[in-house]
Amino acid sequence: MASGQLSREEALECTRCRHACHVMLYSDTKSQLFGKFPIRHIILMQMRFDGLLGFPGGLVDPSKETLEEGLTRELSEELGLPLPISVEDHVESCFAPPSSPPFSSPFSSRLMLHFYVKKIEEEQIREVERVAASTATDHGQEVLGMVRVPLYTMKSGGGLAHFLSHSFIGNARSQLVSSLLRFNMASLEELRKALTRSQEIHS
Ligand code: GTP
Ligand code: MN
Ligand code: MN
Ligand code: MN
Ligand code: MN
Ligand code: MN
Repeated sequence: MASGQLSREEALECTRCRHACHVMLYSDTKSQLFGKFPIRHIILMQMRFDGLLGFPGGLVDPSKETLEEGLTRELSEELGLPLPISVEDHVESCFAPPSSPPFSSPFSSRLMLHFYVKKIEEEQIREVERVAASTATDHGQEVLGMVRVPLYTMKSGGGLAHFLSHSFIGNARSQLVSSLLRFNMASLEELRKALTRSQEIHS
């Protein structure tokens, strides 16, 4: 496990922490952009109420529900359909990066972040997108829309690098990048290039 990463059990030992669970839902796809760029995988993220990109999920109270029950509940609120998440989908847990003033409070307890990855069928991804944009209770409130992550890099440089140049909540960007590597959706070389380019975009 990478430094700073905790197992699910170690993370749950922090009974004074607040806990939040988020999940990367993805599928394989044979579809191609403009009939020539293989899309390879559909990965779902969301535009949050605060204008930041993040994964679906939210705060869970381990004294009242298991992490996975809580995450499944958050998905029903944010995506509008049942999508059971299990312990086997857990990838890593870690402390949230400290938030900078004026948002940090010495009185708020530390936040523990639990991250899950779940592969589903392409048709389920499409169903999530349909329902999340229509009947999900949080649609238009906490969630402004679901977005797909472009994994490819076009001749112009457009694609993954531009996506990574946006602003993300917490450590969602690094959760995305490390999952792409861990689940063989992008090579180290591709990711290095995209990350470097993404940093040049706003500088
Ligand atoms: P409420 O229902 O309003 O409480 O929101 P929520 O339960 O949906 O919580 P939210 O999804 O905002 O997540 C809680 C906290 O976890 C956020 O304030 C962030 O600090 C952090 N967080 C949110 N999304 C992500 C994410 O994708 N990755 C990581 N690492 N942290 C996140
Ligand atoms: Mn929520
Ligand atoms: Mn919530
Ligand atoms: Mn949420
Ligand atoms: Mn919140
Ligand atoms: Mn809520």
